[in-house]
Formats: sequence, C-alpha cells, structure tokens
Amino acid sequence: MSRLEVAVVVSLRGSGRYVTGEELGRICGATPGEVRAVVRDLVKRGYTIDEVPGEGFRLKETSPTLDGADIRARLSTTILGSEIFAFGRVGSTNDVATALARGGAPDGSLVIAEEQTKGRGRLGRRWHSPPSAGLWFSLILKPDLSPEASTTLSLAAALGIATALDEAYGIPARIKWPNDVLVHGRKICGILTEAEFLGRALNFVVVGIGINVLGGEADFPSEIRDIATSIRMEAGDGMTRSDVLVAVMEAIEREYVRLGKRGFSELKGDLLGKSSLVGEMVRVHTGGGLIEGMAVDIDDRGALILRHDDGSLERILAGDVVGVG
Ligand code: BTN
Repeated sequence: MSRLEVAVVVSLRGSGRYVTGEELGRICGATPGEVRAVVRDLVKRGYTIDEVPGEGFRLKETSPTLDGADIRARLSTTILGSEIFAFGRVGSTNDVATALARGGAPDGSLVIAEEQTKGRGRLGRRWHSPPSAGLWFSLILKPDLSPEASTTLSLAAALGIATALDEAYGIPARIKWPNDVLVHGRKICGILTEAEFLGRALNFVVVGIGINVLGGEADFPSEIRDIATSIRMEAGDGMTRSDVLVAVMEAIEREYVRLGKRGFSELKGDLLGKSSLVGEMVRVHTGGGLIEGMAVDIDDRGALILRHDDGSLERILAGDVVGVG
C-alpha cells in the first residue's frame, strides 16, 4: 500500500462522513485526480468506498468491533500499541504497516483489521482472514538490533503468544520454529516478519500476526481444516478478541523488552521449553534443499541446530519444517 493510499484510508476513517476529493487532497497532500485514482485502486482491493456526486467519498467499514480507543484503554503496555491504527477491511495489515512505518509511525505501532482480503503467510501462501473470526494484526518495531534480528523478533513474538495462550486460557501452545504456534500439532497462530533496511542497517521490522480466535472447524477452508485450530476450539466460549489481543500484546511486550535489554540468549530457555521441534527428527526445506536431522537446539541468533546421524551439527537460519518424527 502506498503512503497516499494509507493517508486516504486513515482520513476517510477518521471523518466517518463524506469528504470531497479536494478536501482529501488537501489533507493528504495530493491533487483531486490523484485522490480519485487512489480511491479506484482501493475499491479494486476490496475497500467499500461510496461516492455521492457533490458530497465526495465515504469509507464503509465492515463491523469494526475492535475499537482502537477501547484497546488502548485496556492495554498496560508502554511500547506496543503506542499508536493504534484499526481498520475494517484491508488487503494485508503488513502492507499498511510498512507504509505507515515508512511514513514515520513509531516503535510499537499496532495495525489491526477486522478482515484482510489479501492476507498472506510465509513463502507466498495465502492467510485466510475472514471478518471477525480472528486477530489479524501487524506490529511496527524499530528496535536497536542487528540486521539479522528478524528471526529473533519472530521467535520472541511466538514465545509471548504461546505464553499468553497458556496463562490466560490454559492452552498448551508450542512453538514450531521459526514462527508458528501450534496446539496438539494444529496451527493456531502464524507469524510473518518482514524487515526493511536502510543500507545495511535495520530500518524497521513489521511482525504480522494471525491468531485464529473464534472460528470453528467448519469455518476453515477445506485444505487447512485438519491442520488448523482456534482458541475457541481449544478453550471453549467466553473470550472476546479484545481480551485475547490485550493478553497477547502484553506478553509480546515482555519478551520484546527482555530481548532488547538482555539479548536473545535470555529467552532461549523458555523457547526451548515450549519448542515443538527440539528432540524430534525433522525435515527442513531450505534454500539449499531438504535437510534431515534431529532438532537439538536454537542458537543465540535464532538458528535451528540439527544433529545428523554421524553426529555433525548443522545450523539453519531460515527454512520451512515440512516433517516431524
Ligand atoms: C504464516 O503462517 O505463514 C504466517 C501468517 C501470518 C498472517 C498474518 S495476519 C496479519 C498479517 N498480515 C498478513 O498479510 N499476514 C500477517
């Protein structure tokens, strides 16, 4: 999403009324023609924007039950949620967050949507993000960390989420390196971390998080029905998405602060304790092909350590675990 697109959506959202192309242009620093072209693109991407001749444009939201002000009031965090951008429907919260981060949104900003029309997962996969079923959000992080930090940030977020699910709902969540959270082998949460660099330095990281909260088995598309689960399926009714968001944000912040102050090695013991892979024979797809071995450790930079039959160790910095056991 371009900066102008984000500005148009944020302005329309904030006003809640019809806004003329001229007024939008003034607010967003664009010509009325540019505004009209942006609105056309946004409609193609799934935003519902009404136009009334003479009155202008109005954004129609899809049941925005997650309210930014309410979330802010309930959060006791100091970094995460420093700014909250809550949307009805977007393409991908990661794209909106990237545009906002480029525009100067601060460390900890939260971008959340009821629904994503182009939610994406790792390795170009689609992330099913229907309205009101889950939490689809992205955190903008601008940490003082090395360029390789995106793996450790993903793992820190996964640790926070797994801990929150366990402590708040008694769900025995496990972390599947590098960035899935599973319950009894089924995926409850996926994380897509995208980093942007300035030269060789890390400029910002967007940690995109999808948590299945309220959906039942029948709500998942058939291709993932056997491998996905939700908080409601594991812990029963009674929680709202805002409850889950608050619990998860607070737990992620604890790990984010710990990571920044003490380094990744401080998180390692807890991560290994919740790992679904360590101690298992695994097959990992990497850029260099399929690698098999026993997962024995996660090193200080977040890499997975495999032990081969001959006792040799191999370090895997990025990959997709395709088989366990
Ligand atoms: C994966 O399991 O492959 C990662 C899934 C990440 C999904 C989240 S939902 C919020 C954010 N926006 C996206 O488009 N993707 C992430």
